[in-house]
Amino acid sequence: MRLRAVSLLAILDLLCSEQGANAASNLTSLVNLFIGTASGANGGSGGNGFPGAAIPHAMAKVGIDVNTTPRQAGYIADGSAITGISLMHDEGTGGNTAGGYGIFPLFPLGNCSFSSCPVSLQARSTLRQFGSASDSASPGYFSTTLVSGIKIEATSTRRAGLVRFTFPAFTTAGTNHIVVDLTNDLQRSFHGGSVSISPSSRVMLSGTFLQSYGTDNYTAYACYDFVNPSQPNATRLTQFGTFHSTSSSTPTTISITPLNTSLSYPFSSSTNPIQAGALLEFSAPAGTTTSSSSSITARFGVSFISSAQACLNAEAEVPTWDWNSIQEASQQKWENVLERVMLPNLQNEDITVVQLLYSSLYRASLVPANMTGENPYWSSPYPFYDSMFCSWDVFRTVHPLLSITSPFEWAEIVNAYIDGWRHTGYIPECRANTKAGYVQGGSDGMPILGDFAVKYSAHASTLGVPTNDLYQALVDTAENTPPDWYMVGRQNTAWKTFGFIPTDWVDPSGSTGLPTREASRALEYALGDFAVRQAGKALGKSSADIAKYANRSMNFVNHWDPTVSSDGFNGFSQRRYANGTFAFSPPNACSPVDPTPHSCARGTDNNVGFYESSSWEMSFFAPHSMSTLIGLMGGDATFISRVDNYFSKGYFQAGNEPSFQMPWVYHYANRPDLSALRVRQIVYKNFNTGIGGIPGNDDSGAMAALLVFHLLGLYPVPSSRQLLIGSPFVSSYTIHNPLLNADTTVTVQGFDPATLVQTPPADSRLYVQSVTVNGVKRGSICWINWDDIVGGGQIVIQVASTPAANGCGSATNARPDSLATGGFN
Ligand SMILES: *[C@@H]1O[C@H](CO)[C@@H](O)[C@H](O)[C@H]1NC(C)=O
Ligand SMILES: *[C@@H]1O[C@H](CO)[C@@H](O)[C@H](O)[C@H]1NC(C)=O
Ligand SMILES: *[C@@H]1O[C@H](CO)[C@@H](O)[C@H](O)[C@H]1NC(C)=O
Ligand SMILES: *[C@@H]1O[C@H](CO)[C@@H](O)[C@H](O)[C@H]1NC(C)=O
Ligand SMILES: *[C@@H]1O[C@H](CO)[C@@H](O)[C@H](O)[C@H]1NC(C)=O
Ligand SMILES: *[C@@H]1O[C@H](CO)[C@@H](O)[C@H](O)[C@H]1NC(C)=O
Ligand SMILES: *[C@@H]1O[C@H](CO)[C@@H](O)[C@H](O)[C@H]1NC(C)=O
Ligand SMILES: *[C@@H]1O[C@H](CO)[C@@H](O)[C@H](O)[C@H]1NC(C)=O
Repeated sequence: MRLRAVSLLAILDLLCSEQGANAASNLTSLVNLFIGTASGANGGSGGNGFPGAAIPHAMAKVGIDVNTTPRQAGYIADGSAITGISLMHDEGTGGNTAGGYGIFPLFPLGNCSFSSCPVSLQARSTLRQFGSASDSASPGYFSTTLVSGIKIEATSTRRAGLVRFTFPAFTTAGTNHIVVDLTNDLQRSFHGGSVSISPSSRVMLSGTFLQSYGTDNYTAYACYDFVNPSQPNATRLTQFGTFHSTSSSTPTTISITPLNTSLSYPFSSSTNPIQAGALLEFSAPAGTTTSSSSSITARFGVSFISSAQACLNAEAEVPTWDWNSIQEASQQKWENVLERVMLPNLQNEDITVVQLLYSSLYRASLVPANMTGENPYWSSPYPFYDSMFCSWDVFRTVHPLLSITSPFEWAEIVNAYIDGWRHTGYIPECRANTKAGYVQGGSDGMPILGDFAVKYSAHASTLGVPTNDLYQALVDTAENTPPDWYMVGRQNTAWKTFGFIPTDWVDPSGSTGLPTREASRALEYALGDFAVRQAGKALGKSSADIAKYANRSMNFVNHWDPTVSSDGFNGFSQRRYANGTFAFSPPNACSPVDPTPHSCARGTDNNVGFYESSSWEMSFFAPHSMSTLIGLMGGDATFISRVDNYFSKGYFQAGNEPSFQMPWVYHYANRPDLSALRVRQIVYKNFNTGIGGIPGNDDSGAMAALLVFHLLGLYPVPSSRQLLIGSPFVSSYTIHNPLLNADTTVTVQGFDPATLVQTPPADSRLYVQSVTVNGVKRGSICWINWDDIVGGGQIVIQVASTPAANGCGSATNARPDSLATGGFN
């Protein structure tokens, strides 16, 4: 990919700059958009990263689409043929392997005569000139070149943008063509819609398609303009019309109708395989010859309200069609995001670490999508965000990262979660393509709202977040049982009746859901209740409430079966029947080394009780009371050897969320040195700057935000102000929090680049010895407060080649907090 060469040049530039890196801030040049774009098929990482043009939290995500699957984000960095450039995409998600969105693609065609142009998906599909080596991208910009020699470029705003096609030459026929595809989203799930063309070259579309993770459909709209009114002679529209399959039984037999201005297909309850769209023909502008290259620029807008709104969005956001100003504005927005983590000593830091850091910060701010003004379901003064795909993925790292660097954006997103409750009764869990997606575990918007309450309650009114509503959203989601807790909310009737989630139990109220993943759901429900407890404390709610939710958050112990043994360790989380008897599943079931194939997804064939995780792993999940687990497991020494065994036996799964916390849990047993070793091992074994550089789906930036935390030597404790602290991968960094308008610099005294390997040499200075905040030495080297990280000032982390003598320190609260031992007070 060309980007790589550009980045290295940029770094050389920075290295040679006498002014130093910060003066010449050009952090976007350090972002590699192709990390995690290898195919998940045939052993690739399947990061499903989206490398196209987008602003931070954009609704429009413009990128090319390949004709092979899997292609969750449309793009795959291989030699696959391209079917078009389309307007919206997901970032890093799993879900349908054919992909999410990919709506209303454009495709350029030369060398054909209007009525016989190869417009169908199959006929037009074509290779890139040099496979994925033809692609280049930087924040706010994407380009590629097809074998035909036609170059495609894109840049964008929140809901609009520009796509430019540069044809190598006008052909013998004197004409070039653009296909505007109505029916082919990435899933080929067209359920009806329409296209209309006006003689001014405006094409308006509407279409209903299936969401990529859930059972529902959504309707989207787009508007394309091909003639810039201020340069009417730059392109000459010489012909237009529509095309459509002659019948749905022979969808690839296409008829092209010149001068036809509209096509409309009624909504149907099943997928209509029809191919249809508009075709436009352009001639060389007056005064040019057929042999010179020429560009056709399309301005687009997208909407979930109407195609007229899509046109308004295009007119408002791209008024003058000025490519450079759109691209520069997009790049500047990214620069503003990236600058919230600065490296004062950038030119001396490890180049790979620097690229990983900024590429990860980039991906962690692509979603959720700011769809404010585009909510098709209710009108509201509050922001509307979508692509919360899923809270299960992002509550652990994405939101805690936003809490540090992006309070304004985060407050909007939190408000969107609250508004979801306001209008549906429950905190949204996996809203994507504007509709509820499947619930994977708990209602994991709860720890997100709890996190906001504990961190920003004092600034909530400045940020426009109504905290009483926030709290009520938490309480309702903690108390009420929705009719179908497979789409939103929790199985609270069972949780409240039993204190665990029973297997084979039918709710007498008639409420239903998918009754699998009982054990892992219960463990997440417990964390959700802790979130209510935390919000209650932060917001001054009644002590009865606080005690109630603290109590309920400890119910994770009710799934603990002390009689189960595995690898010589005793006691594991298990499913349980309503009569209290445990239902045994082998603790290694659904681990990466499960000797017996099991289904570990949501479906009714999951008879293990854990979602995308094993009992071996989920038995470590109680982030709010890890001391309880250490007790259940038999004390520090057993806990430590149990974590070691978990890693050595292969139960760790670097590419999935339930594993995120695992390299850090040694902290709770007073062994931060073991965490430091484990984090180095995991980062260097699983992450790199290549297309396979993410160990699993990026999952809406979850993996990216995790890597940011690992590299900065931090790990957030959900719904709390605590961050575990570790050994950073850079010698210093400065966090800028725009709300508090404070800069906090973390300096690693004795920083040792020799530790930047999978197995740091024994004499390298890996281990944290002391943590000093604004000159005051802390009693713990295991945790730090969020306030310390965002509040401004100087944090000094001293490192040495031997572990600190007292583990976390000698203070009574040196270990990170646990509810059971009086923490979080
Ligand atoms: C940033 O770096 C890129 C890549 O080296 C370069 O093309 C661009 O002009 C630079 N921008 C600024 C503002 O220096
Ligand atoms: C048109 O055909 C010529 C000759 O085959 C070829 O060189 C050129 O790349 C084609 N152009 C396009 C846009 O397909
Ligand atoms: C476009 O071309 C027409 C006819 O050649 C000419 O009259 C007109 O002035 C041109 N407009 C612009 C903006 O160049
Ligand atoms: C366009 O073509 C379609 C299919 O042949 C036809 O149903 C429709 O009426 C035509 N629309 C117009 C405006 O002529
Ligand atoms: C789309 O989903 C709605 C429910 O949200 C349903 O009423 C409608 O029938 C569906 N439409 C299609 C075309 O499937
Ligand atoms: C989201 O969109 C709204 C409406 O345009 C805008 O006011 C707000 O600033 C946007 N938020 C972000 C984080 O870009
Ligand atoms: C929670 O409350 C119940 C009922 O009052 C009590 O039996 C139980 O011990 C409490 N659990 C904890 C962890 O405080
Ligand atoms: C509890 O229920 C399960 C499932 O119905 C059954 O297998 C088990 O024998 C029951 N245990 C007791 C003690 O009744």
